[in-house]
Amino acid sequence: MARWGKFITFEGIDGSGKSTLLRNVYNALRRYLPEDKLIVTHEPGGTPFATLLREALAKKVDREPMAELFTLMAARYDHTKRKIIPALQDGKVILCDRYSDSTFAYQVFGKGIEYYTVARFNKVATLGIKPKLTLLVDVPVDVALRRLAEKGKLDHYESLDRSFFERVRYGYLALARRAKKRIKVLDGTKPPEEVLREAMRYIGQILELPSL
Ligand code: TMP
Repeated sequence: MARWGKFITFEGIDGSGKSTLLRNVYNALRRYLPEDKLIVTHEPGGTPFATLLREALAKKVDREPMAELFTLMAARYDHTKRKIIPALQDGKVILCDRYSDSTFAYQVFGKGIEYYTVARFNKVATLGIKPKLTLLVDVPVDVALRRLAEKGKLDHYESLDRSFFERVRYGYLALARRAKKRIKVLDGTKPPEEVLREAMRYIGQILELPSL
């Protein structure tokens, strides 16, 4: 049986640059790993059913925070069971754009759901799977909002107000303080090459890559 794989997640507020970092990490890792050993995925999404739920979540429709939580959890369960666990069993390295920390940052700190409610649901939806390493790309809300404004058409989350993003950012940093070993905070205002270099140092440690 293959050695258990490595699960690496990328987190940050919308406009933080985490998806760009993920792409750069993928390209850098391809120098060390064959294509079939690397999986890139994202949440909400990653499977056909979870992708349908992602489309519903992104719509600019008002919703009950708990209804949103159930939807996110349904998407996470499908994704974890059908994609993440099989890939880990195959010994793959998974780069995942958002996972359970997003739910604490957005639904607890952003939308006011109680922490232990999310913790309980998350435990079921993740089937107990935890990331080995989480790279949190941190930027001031002003910087993120400027980047989103340049992007143009915004979805439900991206259209929420400034104070929402301030709470989400604060939430992420609070989570990082509580899980220092797993969550590494990267300064997303630095040039992308520098953010990548720092990210690869952490990744190199957990993947035991030669001389990074
Ligand atoms: P993305 O644009 O980074 O792909 O993420 C889609 C949106 O979904 C993003 O604005 C954050 C939100 N989200 C949550 O609110 N809770 C979650 O658990 C996840 C995974 C995403």
